[in-house]
Amino acid sequence: MTQTRPAAVIVLAAGAGTRMKSAIPKVLHPIAGRSLLHHALAAAAGCQPESLVVVLRHERELVAAHVAEISERILPAPSIADQDEIPGTGRAAECALAMLPTGLSGTIVVSYGDVPLLTSETINELVRFHESGGHGVSVLSADVADPAGYGRIIRDADGQVLRIVEQKDADETERSITEINSGIYAFDAEVLRAALQKVGTDNAQGEKYLTDVLAHARQAGSTVAALVTSDIWQVEGANDRVQLAALGKELNRRICERWMRAGVTIVDPNTTWIDADVELNPDVTILPGVQLQRATVVGGGSTIGPDSTLSDVEVGERSSVVRTHGSLAVLGDDVSVGPFAFLRPGTELGANGKIGTFVETKNAKIGAKSKVPHLSYVGDATIGENSNIGAASVFVNYDGVNKHHTTIGSNVRLGSDNMFVAPVTVGDGAYSGAGTVVRKDVPPGALAINVAPQRNLEGWVQQNRAGTPAALAASEATPEQES
Ligand code: UD1
Ligand code: CA
Repeated sequence: MTQTRPAAVIVLAAGAGTRMKSAIPKVLHPIAGRSLLHHALAAAAGCQPESLVVVLRHERELVAAHVAEISERILPAPSIADQDEIPGTGRAAECALAMLPTGLSGTIVVSYGDVPLLTSETINELVRFHESGGHGVSVLSADVADPAGYGRIIRDADGQVLRIVEQKDADETERSITEINSGIYAFDAEVLRAALQKVGTDNAQGEKYLTDVLAHARQAGSTVAALVTSDIWQVEGANDRVQLAALGKELNRRICERWMRAGVTIVDPNTTWIDADVELNPDVTILPGVQLQRATVVGGGSTIGPDSTLSDVEVGERSSVVRTHGSLAVLGDDVSVGPFAFLRPGTELGANGKIGTFVETKNAKIGAKSKVPHLSYVGDATIGENSNIGAASVFVNYDGVNKHHTTIGSNVRLGSDNMFVAPVTVGDGAYSGAGTVVRKDVPPGALAINVAPQRNLEGWVQQNRAGTPAALAASEATPEQES
């Protein structure tokens, strides 16, 4: 049957999340580079509901600011419903309903802001199950080894779902039931609205339970049903930091698996961490100990690692990035970076370029085929094409108060151990000698040298450092010399 779009998805995120023991609201804690809430809203939006509502109360301003921040990446953009002082998931859903058009009909999905592995596909599957069965309420349930803490699904002898009982309200027989309520539901809009009006707060926690909607819906003549999922990770919430880490690890495993199936070689998935927003292309190879973060993109045929962390880095095709720490950098095709490179924001490297060993770059635009091979700092610089920066050179960009820019032309050949005291410009095709401190502009084609002529004071060591290993070695190396 054809998939209908849900009328609305309501994501509950008003709870405090005290077990995180954190100054940061629970739903803002990240895994795979996105907040728990971002994962939940992205999955909800993936079902293309007419409306997407997130219910907030605890740390409302912080969470609302985050929702605003991620809104441009989520369609439909979520609107915020504020839960009032009446506690409980039922009240949270009611506050969301108040935001929606009064006569709204169709299917309303409710899910949680702290359940990050739930996918759009699973929500869609629940909606299909719900609509094809013509149910008033459908709940996603799971059979778990340890059901403690969860609401239990109560079925009659024929297996028909009757109601949900919370752990704190359950008797011993009910507590022995292992089919749990995930907290993810599909409701018929009218059934939900009508049932919520009947739900009270007369229970162990004094809360308005969303779970009570099931029994009321049945009394009103609707059928209620449960779709049992076998993928328990998808309904698992992050209540403390132990669960946060477990969910993060499992999500990463799934992300790695997805990329491997898409043609990426991951030599060791156990030491490879890939954020949800990363994009990889076929025949990328990831060596052990790599973290690819935020909006990092790697082109086909490139190899990353071992032991590299790239955050918001774009890597072209057929490039190699070895033992590198980089952020907000753009690397072209066929480049070579590392080992031991530190790419800071604003680094750009053109095709066939090289940023080599023990090199730090920042706000540096390095043209195609240009090389900074060894032991250098390139800050606030523009380097043309096919130029070579000598080993151990420093772009002296800071005068103690302000930062200044250095411009190097194309086809330039610079000696080792140069200092470019910015602001300064080196013209196309220029050369410099080793140890040059470039304080003045170098015209195209010129050779810049400013090192004082070398003087050798013969015999200085034997005279001034007599008896030292150096003096003895010097004497041995010059035996014919008369003393
Ligand atoms: C709830 C279910 C339980 C289910 C479990 C699954 C109820 C009464 N119980 O229990 O059957 O097994 O989830 O994890 O629904 N929230 C609000 N406003 C509130 C209270 C909660 O928005 O007033 C949000 C929370 O932020 C959270 C979600 O609802 O995202 C679940 O809240 P939580 O307190 O974890 O529910 P449980 O009591 O664990
Ligand atoms: Ca919970």
